Amino acid sequence: MADETGIRRGLTNYGDKDFAQYLRNSFARSMGLSREMLAKPIVGIAMTPSSFNNCHRAMPELVDAVSRGVLAAGALPMPFPTTSLGEVFLNPTSMVYRNLMAMDTEEMIRAQPMDAVVLIGGCDKTVPAQIMGTLSAGIPAVQLVTGPMSTGRHRGERLGACTDCRRFWAKYRAGDVDAAEIATVEGRLATTAGTCAVMGTASTMACIAETLGLSLPDSAAIPAVHADRLVAAERSGAVAVDLIRKPIVPQAIVTEKSIENALRVLMAVSGSTNAVVHLAAIAGRLGIPITRELFNRISDETPVLVDLKPVGEGYMEDFHAAGGVGAVLHELRHLLHLDTVNVMGETLEQRLSRPLEWVDRKIIRPFAEPVSPVGGLIALEGNLAPEGAILKRAAATPSLFETEGRAVVFEDLPDLARRIDDPALDVEANDILVLKNAGPVAAGMPEAGYLPIPKKLAQKGVKDMVRISDARMSGTAFGTIVLHVAPESAVGGPLAAVRDGDRIRLSVNEKSIRLLIDDAEIARRLAGLPKRPLPKRGYQALYARTVQQAPDGCDFDFLAAETTSTHP
Ligand code: FES
Repeated sequence: MADETGIRRGLTNYGDKDFAQYLRNSFARSMGLSREMLAKPIVGIAMTPSSFNNCHRAMPELVDAVSRGVLAAGALPMPFPTTSLGEVFLNPTSMVYRNLMAMDTEEMIRAQPMDAVVLIGGCDKTVPAQIMGTLSAGIPAVQLVTGPMSTGRHRGERLGACTDCRRFWAKYRAGDVDAAEIATVEGRLATTAGTCAVMGTASTMACIAETLGLSLPDSAAIPAVHADRLVAAERSGAVAVDLIRKPIVPQAIVTEKSIENALRVLMAVSGSTNAVVHLAAIAGRLGIPITRELFNRISDETPVLVDLKPVGEGYMEDFHAAGGVGAVLHELRHLLHLDTVNVMGETLEQRLSRPLEWVDRKIIRPFAEPVSPVGGLIALEGNLAPEGAILKRAAATPSLFETEGRAVVFEDLPDLARRIDDPALDVEANDILVLKNAGPVAAGMPEAGYLPIPKKLAQKGVKDMVRISDARMSGTAFGTIVLHVAPESAVGGPLAAVRDGDRIRLSVNEKSIRLLIDDAEIARRLAGLPKRPLPKRGYQALYARTVQQAPDGCDFDFLAAETTSTHP
């Protein structure tokens, strides 16, 4: 059989294979690659540097280190660019473009001649996009993350993006911090290369990638500027070469069992709500369902073990020094599927047979002495969210867990921006704020679910209220916030029926969210609502017509495996 590896893979179609090979070799030689080099197996390096992505600032040296590892292990490294998504530089929201990046990653892996790939991502949407793409492309792959930022300092206090960004902004809105100080703080929140410094979405996804087995053991939390980050990059290159010799494809690593392990770690690290959407999309690529029942069972069985912001005290650099994902896995061992495998080809049981060097118990608690006895996230359901909603109970105010209140409704994001600080807004501290039309189809599901406390209440010292929307919220945010309500209001979800003054009941105990109106009245109101027009051209049209709801991970319907499921 003809050798179709390395530079001989997937020849360009000219109708003459030999000519195609000759032409490709000739053009590859123009890059200064010798025949000996071109005879080697190829490891593609999906790189994502961009001046619009601060979190990937260290990408060039990571690419160099991966290349070094690939070369030393006997293969040819071939870096190639894909879409890069810098969270705060994209309009209307990076979430719209995660699937574009996933498609780009999948197609560029498939279209170009490589035997394995190292994916380098970091910022929130990039790692899920790379995992989704590589699962569909199906060649051996190693995920490397850029790593978290280190903290800055302000008047003796440590600061880290972006929980402290929000904390200081809330103080500024309440009048406790003046314009001069907020301008100073602006320059002290994000002071190094790397992803947000807390257990936000990027760090949660890094922990999930490691737990799934797609990243090297103990690599998720290494700070972006630490020398060990480069060592991990070098090793990732070498492991990718090993994977060519003993092929383990990502679909053999990401399984129902490793997804369950990832859900456990998500709960134990009190990870981001966004990771629920991304994990559903990742599982959806393989047709693996994550039901609300499974999600809540795992949440109820799995304590929060990690004391990091936005919920607790520490930062990602502390988590790394404390023992990282490995220490969490050791604590959860009796709940995990130990026969899952990682990119090294070792089972989780083999990984956990290595003793830990040391664990900082201030940051990573023993199973028997958790930060909280139950997991950080729960899935809600009820007549306001027939297909589910998410609440980060670890970041919520316990006194608001059982709340019945009057709805104060904002029709969409412009309406929210226009009225939230209006002194005439009819709102009390025990009301429930509702935002409509911020779901995947209506608005690309921006991180707008963290509705600001109305200024007049913030100035009276109100710190938290129940807030409900079909939007997402930043993994670095906190509060009693019901998110991802599905179906979203723009596609006829009951959220669209809520009016000012309606009563809503949230019960964390019952894991329910209910609009206290009878079903016939909800149906009557929904029937009277106008249909929203969809974009007609380009990617926006493709997005709006094919994006699925949050419980299915907001993946495009034509990219997910052919399975229907009931996710959180
Ligand atoms: Fe990139 Fe937070 S902005 S991880």
